Amino acid sequence: MSSYKSAVPNSKDTFRHDLFKGKVLFCTGGRSGICYKIVETMMSHGVDAAIVGRDGKGLAESAQALVKTTGQKCLPTSADVRDPGQLEKAVKETVDKFGKIDFVICGAAGNFLAPISSLSSNAFKAVIDIDLLGTYNTIKATLPYIRQSHGSYLHISATLHYRGVPYQAHVSAAKSGVDALSNVLAVEEGPRGVRSNVIAPGPIGNTEGMSRLSPMGWDATNDIPLGRMGDTSDIANAAVFLFSPAASWITGTVLPVDGGENHIRQLSLPYPQSMLDPESVKGLIKGKL
Ligand code: COA
Repeated sequence: MSSYKSAVPNSKDTFRHDLFKGKVLFCTGGRSGICYKIVETMMSHGVDAAIVGRDGKGLAESAQALVKTTGQKCLPTSADVRDPGQLEKAVKETVDKFGKIDFVICGAAGNFLAPISSLSSNAFKAVIDIDLLGTYNTIKATLPYIRQSHGSYLHISATLHYRGVPYQAHVSAAKSGVDALSNVLAVEEGPRGVRSNVIAPGPIGNTEGMSRLSPMGWDATNDIPLGRMGDTSDIANAAVFLFSPAASWITGTVLPVDGGENHIRQLSLPYPQSMLDPESVKGLIKGKL
C-alpha cells in the first residue's frame, strides 16, 4: 500500500489576499530559497518588503522579480549581517522608503558539511557569525521600529540541533542560539507588544541548502511521515500564519515545519563510517571535507 502524500498548499486558499496591506517587511536572506518564497507570499498578501543580503546584483534581480509577480514594492538593500553598521544603514534605507517596519525575518544563513575534527576555529566562527550574531545584529538594528509598530520577528532555524547530527556542529550550535535568542526576545519585548517566533524547516526540496547539504543520491522521502519533501510554500504558509493577527497570542514558540521528519530522522551520511573514515564519504559531499 502506498503511503499518504500531503498536497502542497497555496496560501490564497486559506488567507485573505490583502492580509498584510499597508505593512512593511524587512527580510535578511530574502534573495533566494526559503526566504524568497516567504517574501513573495507575504507580498502577494499586500506587504511591501526590503530584502537584505551581500549579493547586490542578485538582490536587485530578485526584487525586480518580486515586484513583477506580486505588484507590491520591494527594496533591495545590500548588507552583511555580520556588520551592525551595514545593517543599520539597510534599516535606515527601508524606513526612509516605507516609513516604518512591521515584520522582520532573520533568515540569512551559511552552512556546509564538515566534522569537528576538520572544522577550523575560523570555519566554526564563520557560521556562528552569520547565523547567530547576524540574527542578533538584525534584532538590534530593527527593534526600535518593531517596538513602534508593535510588530513581530520570525527567525529561520533548523531541527538539526534536536539531536547530534554529525558534520553539523557549527550550524547546530548557531541555530540552538537562535532559538534561545528568540525566546528571550519574546519575554523581554512581549510587554511592549512585540512577538518573536521561530520556524524550523525540515528538508525542503529545490533549495540551495538542500542541494549543497544533502549527500549525493540521498532521498529523504521515506523519512517523512507526511510522505513528501517539503516545499518552500510550506514554510511561507507557516510564516504568513505567524505574522497574521490569528497568531497574536503566539510568541516564544519554535514551530518545526517538516512533515514530522525530526521525530524519525535517519542520518543522511552512513554512520559510523562517516566518523571513522571521513575520506570514505568524500564522494557524497559537495565542497571540501
Ligand atoms: N568545509 C570546511 N570549512 C569550510 C567550508 C567547508 N565546506 N567552507 C568554508 N569553510 C571555512 C573556510 O575554510 C574558512 O576557514 P579557514 O580560514 O580556517 O580556512 C572559514 O570557513 C570561512 O570561510 P570563507 O569562505 O572565507 O567565509 P565566508 O564568510 O565568505 O563564507 C559561508 C562562509 C558559510 C557563507 C560559505 O561557506 C559559503 O559561501 N557557503 C555557501 C552558501 C551557503 O551556505 N548558503 C546557505 C545554505 S543553507
